[in-house]
Amino acid sequence: MTQTLYTESELKSVVATLAAAIATDSSGRKLLLLGLLKGCQPFLADLCRELSRYQLSLAVEYLQVSSYVGTASSGQVTINHGLPDSLWRGCDVIVVDDIFDTGLTLKSVVAHLREKGAEKVKTCVLLRKEGSSRVVMEPDYCGAVIPDAFIVGYGLDYNEQYRELPYIKILAEDEQN
Ligand code: IMP
Ligand code: MG
Repeated sequence: MTQTLYTESELKSVVATLAAAIATDSSGRKLLLLGLLKGCQPFLADLCRELSRYQLSLAVEYLQVSSYVGTASSGQVTINHGLPDSLWRGCDVIVVDDIFDTGLTLKSVVAHLREKGAEKVKTCVLLRKEGSSRVVMEPDYCGAVIPDAFIVGYGLDYNEQYRELPYIKILAEDEQN
């Protein structure tokens, strides 16, 4: 049975609240939103639209990152990018991802960016799973905390399916094959 966790309108209001928090904290320096593909896509697009209400200097780039196989984290984070280190010079970077689960992805990406010379790096996730973290790190911006269940929709996938849903639902066992 389908269990909707966040409707389209609930997601809109969560994203608007996150944008307001980011805008409030903005230092006036250029802000680089670095989205983690592929899950960040709808969230990052909506976040940008909400941020356009504020007078910010904003750039958007993407990193391809993967760690999940089926419904479990492999624990192995692969970062694939060809971005020049000059990209984050003079910028406040905010890494944007769909969800913080074990936290290994964000931790690896932040360490990677620091190694590549990024000075100010923050993190922003739409959702964070309760009790599943395996790192000593909290996302700087988090839309909502959810139970530790496997969810899909609004960019989140199960073996590349369901990303297109405009809402988020818990994936039922009979939908996992
Ligand atoms: P972490 O490294 O364990 O924090 O996992 C982060 C990544 O795992 C996210 O960017 C998602 O792509 C994926 N992920 C974690 N939980 C879920 C889920 O419930 N559904 C779909 N993807 C998930
Ligand atoms: Mg992801």
